[in-house]
Amino acid sequence: MSESDLPAFDTSDFKYTQPPNPSWTYGEALATTEQGQQWAQEAEEGWKTFNPAEEDPRVIYKLCISGIVPRPIAFVSTLAEDGSENLAPFSWFNQVSTNPCVISVSVTNSPRHKDTAANIKATKGFTVNIISDPWIAQANSCSMDAPSDISEWTFSGLTQEPSISVKPARVKESAFSLECELLQNVEIKDAGGKVTTNLILGTVKYIHARNAVLNDKGVVDPAKLKAVGRLGDISYVSVKDGFRIPRPAWAEYIEENSKSSL
Ligand SMILES: Cc1cc2nc3c(=O)[nH]c(=O)nc-3n(C[C@H](O)[C@H](O)[C@H](O)COP(=O)(O)O)c2cc1C
Repeated sequence: MSESDLPAFDTSDFKYTQPPNPSWTYGEALATTEQGQQWAQEAEEGWKTFNPAEEDPRVIYKLCISGIVPRPIAFVSTLAEDGSENLAPFSWFNQVSTNPCVISVSVTNSPRHKDTAANIKATKGFTVNIISDPWIAQANSCSMDAPSDISEWTFSGLTQEPSISVKPARVKESAFSLECELLQNVEIKDAGGKVTTNLILGTVKYIHARNAVLNDKGVVDPAKLKAVGRLGDISYVSVKDGFRIPRPAWAEYIEENSKSSL
């Protein structure tokens, strides 16, 4: 089946559902639900085990970006020392600390050195913009291997919004943007000592959240944000369903267990 034979993008609203096993109690094994039973059965097919130190890094790359999913995407805006603008998506991204508020973005030097890492190292300030369904095409276009002196802003169709504390603009179309300053760059090296990756840690100076995506508790509503995540290869995921599971508490666990042992 070709991509054009697939159903059209599902624009239905995000909805909350029950969790997969809402009646689960402490200690209950997987095979008590039909889905769980099948999942347990599939373990009997065994495992294929990879040793990254011995495999071709390209094999490990494809394997890990398809297995470590879904990943959030940082859409990063930077400036070179000469003022050249740059915009590109990165899914080796996360928040790593909240006090202080620090995020990480990891940029590989393969298959080529990327402007984003060079720019952040040179000019320190950058913005990270969360991508939403309506403008994923525009954002994806910025992963093009355009020459360093070409600004991805020019062909992306996206709009610059001035930042407060850093020079690069943030993306006006983004409902959630972070202004960041380089905290530390960790150079990751291969067995021969060659730097293969720059793990950039950035201190978040300002957070811009669209009023339209904030709920009355001041947090982002996933139904409004319509965030896009990354899967393996060229696959993305749109956040369509959510479910809620209460955080377990020791006191509750003890109470439940003491009742069942009576
Ligand atoms: C959704 C998506 C996520 C990506 N994530 C990463 C990543 O985490 N690290 C990386 O080095 N490249 C990643 N890339 C590739 C870069 O976006 C691409 O190499 C881009 O051209 C880099 O631009 P630059 O040279 O202007 O910095 C990703 C591409 C896409 C489409």
